[in-house]
Amino acid sequence: MAATIKNIRFFLFFLGLISQGNVFPGYCEECSLKDLFVNTSKIGVTIQGKTEWLVTVTNNCQCGQSQVILNCRGYKTVEPVDPTILEYSGTDYCLINYGKPKYKQPITFKYAWDTAFSMSPNSSQITF
Ligand SMILES: *[C@@H]1O[C@H](CO)[C@@H](O)[C@H](O)[C@H]1NC(C)=O
Ligand SMILES: *[C@@H]1O[C@H](CO)[C@@H](O)[C@H](O)[C@H]1NC(C)=O
Repeated sequence: MAATIKNIRFFLFFLGLISQGNVFPGYCEECSLKDLFVNTSKIGVTIQGKTEWLVTVTNNCQCGQSQVILNCRGYKTVEPVDPTILEYSGTDYCLINYGKPKYKQPITFKYAWDTAFSMSPNSSQITF
């Protein structure tokens, strides 16, 4: 699964280079990983004895961010999560939105485990 994520990343990286051409808008240059926020909150529901957590990934940048990868070491869930929203590499990373660009619309997903995992942005690529 890790290899798949890597392949997707590289594929999208080259696609990104092609589509960006010379018209990358200047205001996108101010966007960075710091514009991505991952918030986790408790919903108050338990699934198979585990706490259900709601995660919201927000991009506060005017431009899109693609290949959004979160640090999510040790991630586990008893509640299946749609892999097109969150795909766990099996080690340290989670790929968001299948690597496709993420714009202002927040992405949310729910998982269930004893404790919440600390998920923070690891890398992304600015697109528009
Ligand atoms: C998410 O967390 C960030 C940083 O703590 C905070 O500024 C932001 O308001 C939170 N967003 C939501 C939707 O709760
Ligand atoms: C991304 O992950 C690598 C490997 O775990 C780590 O060395 C690096 O500090 C991480 N970067 C961020 C911004 O979390």
